[in-house]
Amino acid sequence: MVLIAPSILAADFGRLREEVAALEKAGADLLHCDVMDGQYVPNLTFGPAVLKSIRPYTKLDFDVHLMVQNPDKMLAWFADAGADILTVHAEACPHLDRTLAEIKSLGLRAGVSLNPSTPEKVLTYVLDKVDQILVMTVNPGFGGQNFIPAQLNKIARVKEMTKGRHIKIEVDGGINPLTAAECTAAGADILVAGTAVFAGKDYKKNIEALR
Ligand code: DX5
Ligand code: ZN
Repeated sequence: MVLIAPSILAADFGRLREEVAALEKAGADLLHCDVMDGQYVPNLTFGPAVLKSIRPYTKLDFDVHLMVQNPDKMLAWFADAGADILTVHAEACPHLDRTLAEIKSLGLRAGVSLNPSTPEKVLTYVLDKVDQILVMTVNPGFGGQNFIPAQLNKIARVKEMTKGRHIKIEVDGGINPLTAAECTAAGADILVAGTAVFAGKDYKKNIEALR
């Protein structure tokens, strides 16, 4: 069954505690946390202090997506804040193998994210250290962008290269009921969605529509 990971980027930050509880009640499987540093991507969101402050209000795993220039120096901060999965961008890691080993040594699940223009072959020699692969279906930085259809091929190729391994394939950006169906058909296991989950008041209905 496909897992739904609402992105709190689209939540009301003034009511984050209530929003997180509402997502859990609505049937979310993971909480996707978009960390942006204003350097790697042209937007700035939140850091470990904010995640730590909402950690007591949900049992959902924190799926932390680090869109930052230098993730290495921040891994321990987010482990301490209660992250369960730490995903770094392959493009931001000159020593990706070392970064993934560091995430594992902190006792967390390790993810690698690929921008739309990045070929999946960068993963070839790190597959044994990866729990999750995040295929970006928009250019990272903002919610509410249009899905990039060319990424469907990448999802299928990643599916092929991870055959026989316990690696989850996650997609992020422009996911709505239509693109969700295309992504799961191509092999996606986890769907991240901001706009599509937070539209209107009925998070449960929105999550069910994605499933
Ligand atoms: C984009 C973020 C996404 C974003 C998705 O850089 O990584 O997680 O919140 O938002 P939607 O679902 O609105 O495209
Ligand atoms: Zn994300």
